[in-house]
Amino acid sequence: MAVLILLFLLAASVVAADEDAFIGVNIGTDLSDMPHPTQVVALLKAQQIRHIRLYDADRAMLLALANTGIQVMISVPNEQLLGIGQSNSTAANWVSHNVVAHYPVTNITAISVGSEVLTTIPNAATVLVNALKFIHSALVASNLDRQIKVSTPLSSSIILDSFPPSQAFLNRSWNPVLVPMLNFLQSTGSFLMLNIYPYYDYMQSNGVIPLDYALFKPLPPNKEAVDANTLLHYSNVFDAMVDAAYFAMAFLNFTNIPVIVTESGWPSKGDANEPDATLENANTYNSNLIRHVLNKTGTPKHPGIAVSTYIYELYNEDTKAGPVSEKNWGLFDANGSPIYILHLTGSGLVLANDTTNQTYCAVKNGADPKMVQAALDWACGAGKVDCTPLSQGQSCYEPDNVLAHASYAFDTYYHQMGKAPGTCDFKGVAAITTTDPSHGTCIFPGSVGKNGSLVNITAPSMNSTSSEFSSHSSIHGSGLTSIFMTIAFLIWCGVLL
Ligand SMILES: *[C@@H]1O[C@H](CO)[C@@H](O)[C@H](O)[C@H]1NC(C)=O
Ligand SMILES: *[C@@H]1O[C@H](CO)[C@@H](O)[C@H](O)[C@H]1NC(C)=O
Ligand SMILES: *[C@@H]1O[C@H](CO)[C@@H](O)[C@H](O)[C@H]1NC(C)=O
Ligand SMILES: *[C@@H]1O[C@H](CO)[C@@H](O)[C@H](O)[C@H]1NC(C)=O
Ligand SMILES: *[C@@H]1O[C@H](CO)[C@@H](O)[C@H](O)[C@H]1NC(C)=O
Ligand SMILES: *[C@@H]1O[C@H](CO)[C@@H](O)[C@H](O)[C@H]1NC(C)=O
Ligand SMILES: *[C@@H]1O[C@H](CO)[C@@H](O)[C@H](O)[C@H]1NC(C)=O
Ligand SMILES: *[C@@H]1O[C@H](CO)[C@@H](O)[C@H](O)[C@H]1NC(C)=O
Ligand SMILES: *[C@@H]1O[C@H](CO)[C@@H](O)[C@H](O)[C@H]1NC(C)=O
Ligand SMILES: *[C@@H]1O[C@H](CO)[C@@H](O)[C@H](O)[C@H]1NC(C)=O
Repeated sequence: MAVLILLFLLAASVVAADEDAFIGVNIGTDLSDMPHPTQVVALLKAQQIRHIRLYDADRAMLLALANTGIQVMISVPNEQLLGIGQSNSTAANWVSHNVVAHYPVTNITAISVGSEVLTTIPNAATVLVNALKFIHSALVASNLDRQIKVSTPLSSSIILDSFPPSQAFLNRSWNPVLVPMLNFLQSTGSFLMLNIYPYYDYMQSNGVIPLDYALFKPLPPNKEAVDANTLLHYSNVFDAMVDAAYFAMAFLNFTNIPVIVTESGWPSKGDANEPDATLENANTYNSNLIRHVLNKTGTPKHPGIAVSTYIYELYNEDTKAGPVSEKNWGLFDANGSPIYILHLTGSGLVLANDTTNQTYCAVKNGADPKMVQAALDWACGAGKVDCTPLSQGQSCYEPDNVLAHASYAFDTYYHQMGKAPGTCDFKGVAAITTTDPSHGTCIFPGSVGKNGSLVNITAPSMNSTSSEFSSHSSIHGSGLTSIFMTIAFLIWCGVLL
């Protein structure tokens, strides 16, 4: 009997998910033509996005979200953190203006206090826990603390030696902040908010982390990463990072704080030195991430405990500074047109359409241009493809290069042949893809259009309101961490081999 009770207590003290995991979307507002809040909300509804995170508590957005049933995480921007962390009355005012004034008509379910504070504004770290406590006290005073959770998003770069996950620990120099923070999260029944960017982990690993491992693609069993201490098998960076967070918390004796991922995504475009920021990779990452989270697979350490995740992000933010990739994390452009159509089965969950079976034929990455030219000549000749759209002034003339032209000709041939096996090869220079290569007025055979399941957005077009929104900063990853990770990964691989 005593054993049973003990088991019960143990079971009750481990991480448990009391509601279904969900996929949410972050809404950054650094757009030169930020859609009006009513347009944003129309897009969310059309795409069946039920969970969002705002980087502030913009009044117009909160009003537009009223009575929509959309669950909203609002944020205390980093600029306001000092004020709130230094004064409980400032915190109480913030809660009264931004929460009490809108709840429950607008379903605010969480408050993220600051963003990656320890790594972006370390000087404010000393007030972080007070800010969390003051905001929470104000919620208690309004009797909203059970409905609305308070936490602060951390950069995954504060988790050191994250590979293998069982040896991960939180950067000890932050223990004076992290220990009281974890105590707060535990005692208030809140969760650890973590930003996870396998894209940066992959980029900074200098080839040590395989691309497929970052993208959740199936790996051959001998390439799966095995944690030598736990013998748990890892098939993607995301799970390894979440488990690293669980282990790192357990190292400080916190074993019952669930993890929620406040940011994760993949850029669809990048500079010349960011060759893996592509439409295809962004689509693969986000599609696989959504499936992974909604499938409730959980992580190797906590199977079945799915980790709710907010995708970074709704819109491409064209006015963000930094490399091209910084501006291209979005699922949609400012007009609400999808940047790519996610490969999702079971449409209706989020970001509707199922285009899983939609395939195209295009030139393979790295194909030899001479062979591509020969194949193009063949397709437009003996292959009987109508190549008139490729001539000057026609819809697929631009961009005027052999790769773009060949992709159009290959795809046309492939569809002419009823997508029969072997009709997308062209001596090895072509490959089947699920990303629609259509661009501008050049619509490829098989294209279902770039407009996805988007319905017309009838909200009046209004002047950009971006100045009302405060910008957010997110500095992703850190070179130092990556060196540690790389070394750790190498050692880890060494253990495996
Ligand atoms: C703020 O703190 C002071 C002193 O620490 C306390 O007397 C007061 O009740 C607190 N106010 C709120 C709104 O919690
Ligand atoms: C807000 O969302 C939560 C979680 O689904 C739900 O339980 C609650 O009823 C909603 N509240 C309102 C006011 O709609
Ligand atoms: C740990 O955090 C401290 C304080 O921010 C920083 O100086 C140090 O570089 C971090 N350590 C590692 C290994 O990242
Ligand atoms: C965790 O708990 C163990 C056993 O109670 C204790 O020995 C250890 O010092 C604790 N570690 C921390 C970081 O508090
Ligand atoms: C969910 O995951 C399990 C185990 O990874 C897999 O067998 C199953 O096919 C997945 N289901 C869906 C709908 O993706
Ligand atoms: C996709 O193809 C499979 C097998 O060819 C078929 O069973 C399924 O219904 C198709 N799905 C859609 C959405 O067309
Ligand atoms: C997408 O929608 C825009 C605006 O409604 C329209 O001009 C365009 O032709 C559509 N594109 C496709 C491929 O249907
Ligand atoms: C998306 O799905 C809707 C409803 O199933 C359908 O009417 C629409 O044509 C689809 N759009 C695309 C681009 O496949
Ligand atoms: C979308 O808007 C266009 C132009 O305003 C209109 O012609 C079209 O019928 C609308 N489509 C739907 C589905 O409402
Ligand atoms: C936008 O604002 C500017 C100045 O604030 C004004 O001149 C312009 O007419 C506005 N445009 C629209 C479409 O309302």
